[in-house]
Amino acid sequence: MQPVLEIKNYSLGLSIDDSVYKVLNNINFTFYKGKIHAIVGESGCGKTMSVMSVLKLLPKNSKVLSGEILFEGLDLLKLSEKEIRKIRGRKIALIPQDPMTSLNPLYTIENQLIETIMLHNDISRDEALNKAIEALESVELRDAKNRIKSYPHELSGGMKQRVIIAMALAANADILIADEPTTALDVTIQAQILKLLEKIKEQGKTIILITHDLGVVARYSDDISIMYLGNVVERAQSDELFKNPHHPYTRALIDALPVRKGKKLKNIKGQPSALTEPIFGCPFHPRCQRADDTCASKLPHLENIGKSSVACYHPL
Ligand SMILES: Nc1ncnc2c1ncn2[C@@H]1O[C@H](COP(=O)(O)OP(=O)(O)OP(=O)(O)O)[C@@H](O)[C@H]1O
Ligand SMILES: [Mg+2]
Repeated sequence: MQPVLEIKNYSLGLSIDDSVYKVLNNINFTFYKGKIHAIVGESGCGKTMSVMSVLKLLPKNSKVLSGEILFEGLDLLKLSEKEIRKIRGRKIALIPQDPMTSLNPLYTIENQLIETIMLHNDISRDEALNKAIEALESVELRDAKNRIKSYPHELSGGMKQRVIIAMALAANADILIADEPTTALDVTIQAQILKLLEKIKEQGKTIILITHDLGVVARYSDDISIMYLGNVVERAQSDELFKNPHHPYTRALIDALPVRKGKKLKNIKGQPSALTEPIFGCPFHPRCQRADDTCASKLPHLENIGKSSVACYHPL
């Protein structure tokens, strides 16, 4: 199958107090049409930076150190701001980590949706209004005709998230990047939004789903990449990853999932080191029970084990 988007050997640095720290280290991702690819890892491991790189929405103090991001025969990293604007929103849309940043509190949903639609389509305001209502209906926002008159603060968290997804769909983007789309929502609404993303994927879109919660993606993702401190440490199809996890970090994430009510969770001991701390060897080795001297001195690279790719000297 031909990938729709590829991140290849990509490294990103951040300058902090005159030093450059590697926030992403030689990462590779391959995304396919009609699939949900989940990027999973603890807070600060570089999930948001990875996808913001695709849209060139990076902080000023960042610097691309190596690699390419391939989309429709172009290296997105080489595009000018003007060129990337033709792709951002139109072909690759972002559902950002903080939904309020993409809704303007001063305008109604109608105004915001119509503006997005008219920006991407050459149609009248009336036609745009119909399309806006259609878009809201397609994300199963109840009573869309009336709800469209609301201001963002009049909507619940789940409704706001649906509106943001509708905006991404209204621009007809092929790829949807959802950065923690359900973190702020309660469990029932979370499941509804994930089901909605699944439906959108079945219509042939590519979805990149970022989450720190492996439990969320268990049911909904096709492919999973596990990140740890700026590195991809394991990559596999979803069912394979849960059946045969190979990296000790992946295993630890699975063991930390709540199984049954009342059953005690196995927390992962310790926490990832800070970006500004130097890393020697495998980034996970300070927390890993299988680690030895090799792990502490040399960075492991992704290698194939069965149907998975794993960066570990002592895989399970
Ligand atoms: N503008 C910035 N300047 C300096 N460091 C930054 C900046 N933005 C992010 N970082 C650091 O870069 C690293 C990766 O951040 P990123 O936001 O990609 O993590 P994440 O995996 O999305 O985490 P979370 O789950 O908390 O959203 C973190 O250590 C973060 O503190
Ligand atoms: Mg993030």
